[in-house]
Amino acid sequence: DSIVSAARETVSFISSRLAEYPQLACPNFGIICGSGLGGLAGTIAPTPQVVIEYADIPGFAVSTVVGHAGKLVFGLLGEKQTPCVLMAGRVHFYEGHTIEKVAFPVRVLHLLGVTTLIVTNAAGGLNPEYNVGDVVVLNDHINIPGLAGAHPLRGPNIEEFGTRFPALSDAYDLALRRKLHLTYKRQQEVMRSKRRLHEGVYVFVSGPSFETRAECRFLRVLGADVVGMSTVPEIIAARHAGMRILAMSLVTNCAVLEPTPRGDAVLAEGGDAELNKVIEKGKANHEEVLESGKEAAEDMQRLVRMFIDELVET
Ligand code: 6GU
Repeated sequence: DSIVSAARETVSFISSRLAEYPQLACPNFGIICGSGLGGLAGTIAPTPQVVIEYADIPGFAVSTVVGHAGKLVFGLLGEKQTPCVLMAGRVHFYEGHTIEKVAFPVRVLHLLGVTTLIVTNAAGGLNPEYNVGDVVVLNDHINIPGLAGAHPLRGPNIEEFGTRFPALSDAYDLALRRKLHLTYKRQQEVMRSKRRLHEGVYVFVSGPSFETRAECRFLRVLGADVVGMSTVPEIIAARHAGMRILAMSLVTNCAVLEPTPRGDAVLAEGGDAELNKVIEKGKANHEEVLESGKEAAEDMQRLVRMFIDELVET
């Protein structure tokens, strides 16, 4: 199969780069860093470390998105110096890649020996309880493109990567979620952050436009708590391959659920200017998604590091 041979070629290329670092070559943990969350790579011990640009990796697509520098980082993370492989940056379906291409790096991680995958992303909050800067551990997803055919496992099944009809009802590992909540509680005691940790459902949409107001209400009615343009294709490929998954969203903006002001309403005092303010309020933009995240991103990175430290202890 062409995906299998492509993945094997990628693995042998990566392995050749790791030849002098046997302690890094077979990490159990893979971490995918979302928009603005690649700073975790900077907290990997400087030596030993191997960095490979996606552009140099055969079979890897290169991300075109600002804030998504594409590189694979092998190194030791946290106080326990746990071997990890980080994907700093990812490619998205909306960039024009096929959904299989988006999931391809996860297949490679599987062949490299990764058994636990931590996935992070920046997402829009649909749940009105959520604030910007909150973190949501995912316990389920809704795959809008996938339900309509843009599914990473579409086509002949590749037995090397998993079975034909994988279950996804247990995709988001309960034991890992429980551990994350405990880690968060301990971290809370240290940093006294107002940042909350929720648990919720992620809905994957293709993008690249942000959702309309009506679409936000539609997604909320479906049961989604956060909305984003990534993660689900990778999760599916990872579950297909039997990995344990922990996924987290950083709420970078709150989606607007209120309908737009009506054009036939009687103008209140302030007139159009007031209404335009209402319209501008909560309008999503990519800068906000990258910017509002900085401090929150550091907290989330710390949470991941502490989580891995506490996980390997047991
Ligand atoms: Cl509001 N929507 C989507 N689709 N992705 C996002 C987002 C919103 N905020 C951050 N990423």
